[in-house]
Amino acid sequence: MNELSGKHIVLGLTGGIACYKAAELCRALVKEGASVQVVMTEAAEHFITPVTMQALSNRPVYGSQWDAREPNNMAHINLGREADAILIAPASADFMAKLLHGRADELLSLLCLARPAATVPLIVAPAMNREMWANPATRRNVAQLRADGIEVLDVGQGEQACGETGDGRMLEADEILADLVAFFSPKRLAGRQVLVTAGPTYEAIDPVRGITNLSSGKMGFAIARAAREAGAEVTLVAGPVLLPTPRGVTRVDVRSARDMLAAVQNQVDRADVFVATAAVADWRPGTAADQKIKKDGSGETPALRFIENPDILATVAQSPRGQAGLRGEAGGIYCVGFAAESHDLLAHASAKRARKGVPLLVGNIGPATFGKDDNALLLVDAQGASEMPHASKRVLARKLIAEIDRRTLGWVHKK
Ligand code: CTP
Repeated sequence: MNELSGKHIVLGLTGGIACYKAAELCRALVKEGASVQVVMTEAAEHFITPVTMQALSNRPVYGSQWDAREPNNMAHINLGREADAILIAPASADFMAKLLHGRADELLSLLCLARPAATVPLIVAPAMNREMWANPATRRNVAQLRADGIEVLDVGQGEQACGETGDGRMLEADEILADLVAFFSPKRLAGRQVLVTAGPTYEAIDPVRGITNLSSGKMGFAIARAAREAGAEVTLVAGPVLLPTPRGVTRVDVRSARDMLAAVQNQVDRADVFVATAAVADWRPGTAADQKIKKDGSGETPALRFIENPDILATVAQSPRGQAGLRGEAGGIYCVGFAAESHDLLAHASAKRARKGVPLLVGNIGPATFGKDDNALLLVDAQGASEMPHASKRVLARKLIAEIDRRTLGWVHKK
């Protein structure tokens, strides 16, 4: 899926060691379908050559406001007018100070100042030493740039080129890419809190063995990401999976169904929407042995007894706020259940929707989708059923978020 197809990005590089990451970023932008026009300051050219950036962007790089290649000799006007966004990465402390004052003594700052601010957003990815980042001058500049409507991305934390450790390094290319994709997404869920469960649970038999299932967590993680991109505050309660946490999402890792229920109960009062994608183990062993169960040579197998796990979705759906959500009342929580079935999807999904007491139940054919990057969904609500045809989980997650938004429009969350 090309996340940025049709987008034209002016990628500005200013002087900083993080210029090496800008090469990777440029490549990632192009890979996602964006056209990229690189503009470099003279300082940036001390760190990386225009040759590298030209090869990666497949366009000549601009560096001077006196560049005669532009017929009207106004690179600072022409380049900005075509852009869907100007992204400065890395943005040095000095360049941010220049932006703040509206200085325009070289092409990149001139182009930022001359951009049509109402239609061409300016996004900066700061990169500097931790002392520079912590300096009150930089703090002031960041606050003022944000107040001026400039999107200042976070900085990373960790070891810096100078050998010191702290805040100020530029985000990695994939993080900047994720922030840019989120920036372009419509903010349908701004101001809402979304709680998502994802992945399998693990029910211990003894300290080394347990019962789990094949859920990969990918659908739930994609929903958490799409909700975040849509402007929601998202908490993702995840069973044992190795997936990376989507940018900007708060993740709570759990193991068993009971841990997952406790984590959900901790968060649920703040949530407006609850999406239960987790494949929660229906049963757990009655008692988990403290020590590894050993074979005794007799050939006898341990007699495992099972106890039913709490139903997390039903617990939330049947709470007073869950019931209010079902009736579409303000202050309720809108619950979305998932059903992984092997056959008769519509019948099972409809029955499950009624049994769990949720307004929306999303069915899918489990064995066909476990671990895969794509899926097909069947949405069942009080009005009937509608299909979301085969697509990547990213695309389906975004569509599902749009559907949730449509069904919860006008809700006001009352605490
Ligand atoms: N779910 C849950 N807690 C459980 C079991 C399920 O929160 N203990 C949620 C899942 O996250 C999903 C929905 O309920 O959103 C449906 O789960 P599923 O296991 O498919 O349904 P069951 O009620 O277990 O029905 P069955 O196994 O008979 O199909």
